[in-house]
This record gives sequence, structure tokens and C-alpha cells, in this order.
Amino acid sequence: MIIMITGTRTGVGRALAEHFLDSGHEVVGCGRKPATLDHPKYRHYQVDLTETDRTRAMFREVRQEYGHLDALINNAGTSTMNHFMTTPDEVTRKIFDLNFFAVLNCCREAVKLLRKSDETAPAILNVSTVAVPWALDGHLAYSASKSAVEQLVRVMSKELAAFGIRVNALGLPPVRTVLTRTVAQPKIDALIARQAIPRMCTMSDIVGPVEFLIGRRSAFITGETVFLGGVH
Ligand SMILES: NC(=O)c1ccc[n+]([C@@H]2O[C@H](COP(=O)([O-])OP(=O)(O)OC[C@H]3O[C@@H](n4cnc5c(N)ncnc54)[C@H](OP(=O)(O)O)[C@@H]3O)[C@@H](O)[C@H]2O)c1
Repeated sequence: MIIMITGTRTGVGRALAEHFLDSGHEVVGCGRKPATLDHPKYRHYQVDLTETDRTRAMFREVRQEYGHLDALINNAGTSTMNHFMTTPDEVTRKIFDLNFFAVLNCCREAVKLLRKSDETAPAILNVSTVAVPWALDGHLAYSASKSAVEQLVRVMSKELAAFGIRVNALGLPPVRTVLTRTVAQPKIDALIARQAIPRMCTMSDIVGPVEFLIGRRSAFITGETVFLGGVH
């Protein structure tokens, strides 16, 4: 498969890229900074996904180089922790620019390449967060942007069904990455205690569900957001 993963320089995106490369797939990744991965089947684009034209140019290059995509994983994302009263609109807009508008743009561009896939069930998978169902205080901008992504999944799954393209999301509980490094441990522990399976989510908890949701074994699943760890 040719799998595009956004935000492959660190964290979840990097772990996913390593997993799919180890499994023999071609991975196209991106980030604002240079690659941290070096593999013959890995191609890195240095791009800020909030720059719409630059992102479109990346997809044009992918089309020229690979001809098609079999899966898109919209992983790149950012967050902020602040009371909404002290969060400037500028900060909220920046979060939406990456977490929602860049995802929308990547989906639009990727559909043109996913339609050329020979896979039985080409897929888009978006990364969401427990901050949505748990309506976590201090995360208004972040959780609102990911709520928008979950709604995108529901609507887009219908609009793309005719093209044979599925759209789902994976909702993550806390994982140790750059994104969570400033979150105090007691706060992380309190979140973990709310999960049905009360332990820290690891990268190996994530790769299996991602592989399933972009693969042919989930060919009849679309429009869903699946949460890890038991989040209710
Ligand atoms: N970690 C958690 O506990 C957790 C929990 C729930 C959900 N999530 C979600 O999981 C996803 C991955 O998070 P993570 O924890 O792995 O974060 P991370 O370690 O901060 O990784 C984010 C990745 O996105 C890239 N990126 C950031 N801004 C970008 C931009 N404007 N354009 C292009 N690439 C950009 C970064 O590379 P550059 O710096 O090179 O741009 C990096 O590779 C996010 O969608 C996040 O919301 C994470």
C-alpha cells in the first residue's frame, strides 16, 4: 500500500510511519521540519499544512511520483491548554487552521489520488481525542476543532461512499509525546483513571487499530470514530 501520514516527524505519526515501513508499505510523510526517518520506502515533504497552496503542491508531487494513494492518515495536530476566557481568538484560529482546515484540505486533495487506488476499500483515517467526549475543561479550542473533525468523518463518509472511499477516526486517550510533555503527571493520571482500561496508551495500542481501519478487513466500516482504552 501507499500510505500518506501527516505529521511523521515525532510522536504518533512517526510510530505509525515506522510500523508501516517495517511491514513493507510505502509511506509518504510530512512535517514543517526535515525528516527524522531514513528509509528507502519513505518520502518526506517539508510543508506547513496550514499553507493551503503548499499542501496542494505536495499532493501534486505525490501524484507525479506515485500516481495514487491507498490511505491517508490525518495525524498532524496541535493543542493548547487554557481557560477560554484567556485564550485569544488568534490561538483558536491557529488550532483550527491545522486541526480542521488542513485536514479538510488534505482530504480534498487525497480523494483525487485515493480514487485511483486498486485497494478494495481505500480509506481516510483522522486522529481525534478523548477531549471531545469528555468535554475537558481547558481544552475548548482543541476539542472543538476535533469535534469538527468527527463531524467531518460522519458527513464525508456519506459524500465519499459513492467513490468507494471510507472515512473514519481514531480517538486517542493520553499518549506520551511532545504534545503531552508539558501536561502534569497528576492530570494525566486522572484521565487514565477515567478509562475502562486504566493504563497509559502506548504506540503499540495504536498501530493495530490504525492498520485495521485503513485496511481491507474494515471495508464495511465508515463514518465511525473509534476510541481506545474504553472511553465513556
Ligand atoms: N499525545 C496525546 O496524548 C494525544 C491524545 C489524543 C490525540 N492526539 C492526537 O494525535 C495526533 C498526533 O499527536 P502527537 O501527540 O503525536 O503530537 P506531536 O508529537 O506533537 O506530533 C505532531 C506532528 O505534527 C507535525 N506538525 C505540527 N504542526 C504541523 C504543521 N503546521 N504542518 C505540518 N506538520 C505539522 C509535527 O512535525 P513538525 O514539528 O516538523 O511540523 C509532528 O510530526 C494529533 O492529532 C493529536 O491531536 C494526541
